[in-house]
Amino acid sequence: MKGKEKTHMKKRIVVLTMAVLFGLSAVACGSEGGSSSGGTDTSTESSSSGSSDSGTVANKDKPLVWFNRQPSNSSTGELDMAALSFNEDTYYVGFDANQGAELQGTMVKDYIEANIDTIDRNGDGVIGYVLAIGDIGHNDSIARTRGVRKALGTGVEKDGSIDSEPIGTNTDGSASAVQDGSIEVNGKTYTVRELASQEMKNSAGATWDAATAGNAIGTWSSSFGDQIDVVVSNNDGMGMSMFNAWSKDNDVPTFGYDANNDAVAAIAEGYGGTISQHADVQAYLTLRVLRNALDGVDVDTGIGTADEAGNVLSDDVYVYNEEERSYYALNVAVTAENYQDFTDSTKVYEPVSNQLDESSHPTKKVWLDIYNASDNFLSSTYQPLLQNYDDLMNLDIDYIGGDGQTESNITNRLGNPGQYDAFAINMVKTDNAASYTALLNQ
Ligand code: BGC
Repeated sequence: MKGKEKTHMKKRIVVLTMAVLFGLSAVACGSEGGSSSGGTDTSTESSSSGSSDSGTVANKDKPLVWFNRQPSNSSTGELDMAALSFNEDTYYVGFDANQGAELQGTMVKDYIEANIDTIDRNGDGVIGYVLAIGDIGHNDSIARTRGVRKALGTGVEKDGSIDSEPIGTNTDGSASAVQDGSIEVNGKTYTVRELASQEMKNSAGATWDAATAGNAIGTWSSSFGDQIDVVVSNNDGMGMSMFNAWSKDNDVPTFGYDANNDAVAAIAEGYGGTISQHADVQAYLTLRVLRNALDGVDVDTGIGTADEAGNVLSDDVYVYNEEERSYYALNVAVTAENYQDFTDSTKVYEPVSNQLDESSHPTKKVWLDIYNASDNFLSSTYQPLLQNYDDLMNLDIDYIGGDGQTESNITNRLGNPGQYDAFAINMVKTDNAASYTALLNQ
């Protein structure tokens, strides 16, 4: 069975997300059976590592997975289908950006409504928020900015979608990339204003930069003071930096994205909430699509179809879009109500935590890079998860950490692809897939 293609599931997702929240512990492990694995063995020219078989697979034909940053045009968001279908064993693994963005926006709006009696710190009838933007050329970041603006009514249409440009400052509500929104609670109408937003890029060019966000909140709070009622961030790294620098002491709810351990723990101290992008499912999928290709079995094995060890994912935690060759994990909101269930973001997802048998899934060597070794989410959540799954799947992985700024810093370390059986790539810029595929084509 191939993965299912699902396109029109917006509504369902919201419902399913609730189901995930309440049903997590009830998800049973798949039963024995499923596919008989073993299959054909792919191997490499070099037998230095785990691979011990003869035969030669050209680098261009080896399994390849893009993850976390989807090959796409950073201005238009258009998918780079050449990269996504580089060979028949190429996939992308990420999460459903629009569903997650909608959840984040709704989470913030719900919080404002539920806390309307105390939220407006200076009592001027304007709920002011500031927004930390991760990377203006990253479709996930763009989606989150749009999701927040949409839910709060501050978005302005541009070319058919909500404008995601940072506005700088907007104390008087005159910025053109946003508008004042309004929220009505208990018969009273409040204005909602995006007071400021900025891409958090440091002088060396690294985006999603937590330290930059920590500085920005310093500047914003000294200019706007108690006009700031809510702080929103495209991720937890920047969110926590702002929380620690300012909002915690000033009791200003701060919202992020990623459900990193420190952010989830901070909910007990007033952090408003975050979104789990189900990194435990993504990290599994990232390695599983490679494993399946290396084993020569159907890509759905251990994903939508239980493998012989009982690993299987239910369709409330991911979707597969065959046309886009992309797996997307589904997101879950993490708030004061449920954060106790999310305290360890590095724990493998139970339904896919069964060890694969070494005789039918022999050790293979994988090259994998993390585009920015100091990215909070990737280093504190995603990579630890990958490291937990690699043993379960008998993958011997070389983890390469980039500087978050220059693609060549990473591609330089893919000097000998012949040593590896498969590749997992996290790009600095989503436009740059060809810098990697060129190396595999040589
Ligand atoms: C995460 C961010 C991270 C980015 C890196 C996003 O999915 O939410 O925290 O910085 O990926 O590409």
